[in-house]
Amino acid sequence: MTNIVLIGFMGAGKSSVGRVLARSLEYDFIDTDEQIEREQRKKISVIFEKYGEAAFRDMETELLRRLQRKKGNFVLSVGGGMPVREENRQLLQSLGTVVYLKASKETIIARVSGDQNRPLLQGEGLEEKVAALMAARAQIYEETANVQLQTDDCTVEELVQKLVAFTGTNIL
Ligand code: S3P
Repeated sequence: MTNIVLIGFMGAGKSSVGRVLARSLEYDFIDTDEQIEREQRKKISVIFEKYGEAAFRDMETELLRRLQRKKGNFVLSVGGGMPVREENRQLLQSLGTVVYLKASKETIIARVSGDQNRPLLQGEGLEEKVAALMAARAQIYEETANVQLQTDDCTVEELVQKLVAFTGTNIL
């Protein structure tokens, strides 16, 4: 069975779904944001502030390169910006079946508003920021993914059930 890689916009549910999915499949769970925070001993917001976005993007790519050597099955949740780099897209696809967790702009805004640890969404004009980033990334997510799953009206458990069913029938 293949590894599962979850991509999608901030607030799409990658980490929540990934954690429960990994438990259901008895796979390891890796979340790139969490792993980078652990390794750097800093929150994402502090990494952006101290080193800048480009340095964070390099940390993401370097982590994906390291994961190529990981043994055993795993579910991988990645930061929303991970697929934007061409090299990352290839690395993600080589790691496993890529699932795009989709959510509407309204759902995303409801889920991320008030969050202080997403540097790209801080300050005024949350709706405009989300709309611009979504427009820039939608096609990238679609082209990177093997499977797309709409998440708006589903609970984490329902999404996990769907993904487990896919794996069971070898669609993934
Ligand atoms: C980012 C998404 C975040 C995190 C960072 C940048 C992005 O992860 O990696 O704030 O560029 O979309 P989540 O998608 O888990 O919020």
